[in-house]
Amino acid sequence: MSKMVLTKEKGWVFRMELINTISFKSLGDERGSLVALEGNNFIPFDIKRVYYIFGTKEGVKRGFHAHKNLRQVAICVAGSCRFILDDGTKKEEIVLNSPATGLLIEGIVWREMHDFSSDCVLMVLADKYYDESDYIRKYDDFLGVVNEKL
Ligand code: TYD
Repeated sequence: MSKMVLTKEKGWVFRMELINTISFKSLGDERGSLVALEGNNFIPFDIKRVYYIFGTKEGVKRGFHAHKNLRQVAICVAGSCRFILDDGTKKEEIVLNSPATGLLIEGIVWREMHDFSSDCVLMVLADKYYDESDYIRKYDDFLGVVNEKL
C-alpha cells in the first residue's frame, strides 16, 4: 500500500508503508505445525542466504543499519522481538512473535531490533550473499542517501 506523506525537502510524495508482513501457511495436524518456505513461494525472491540470531543477551539491541540493495524476510521462529523500521521520514514498529509471520524489509530502510525475549530465534532470509559494502551503518549517511533519492 502506498500513501501520501510530507517529506522535509520535496513536499508530498507517495511512499510505501514500512511494515509489510507475509502470513505463511501453517501445515498443522495433530502432531503440531510446520511452515515450508521456498524462494518465490511465500518469500518474494530467490533465497541466497539464511542467518539467525539467538541467545541475545537481555537489553541488547541489534541492527542499527540500512542496506543499499537487499531484500530480506525476518521471521521470529521462536520467542519475540520488536522491529523498528525507519525510512528517514517516518518510523513504524512491529512485534514479531509468530513463526507463521514474515516481515518483508526492502528498499533503503534503517532497521533496529529491540526487546529480544531470552528464547528468541530470529531467522532472516536474504536475496543476496553477505556483503559488508552493502551496509549503511551510520544514521547520518543513511539520511544522506535517503534525501538524495527523494
Ligand atoms: P551485525 O551486522 O553486527 O548483526 P546485526 O545487524 O544483527 O546487529 O553482524 C554481526 C557479525 O556477523 C558481523 O561481523 C558480520 C557477520 N555477518 C556475516 O558474516 N554474515 C551475515 O550474513 C551477517 C548478517 C552477519
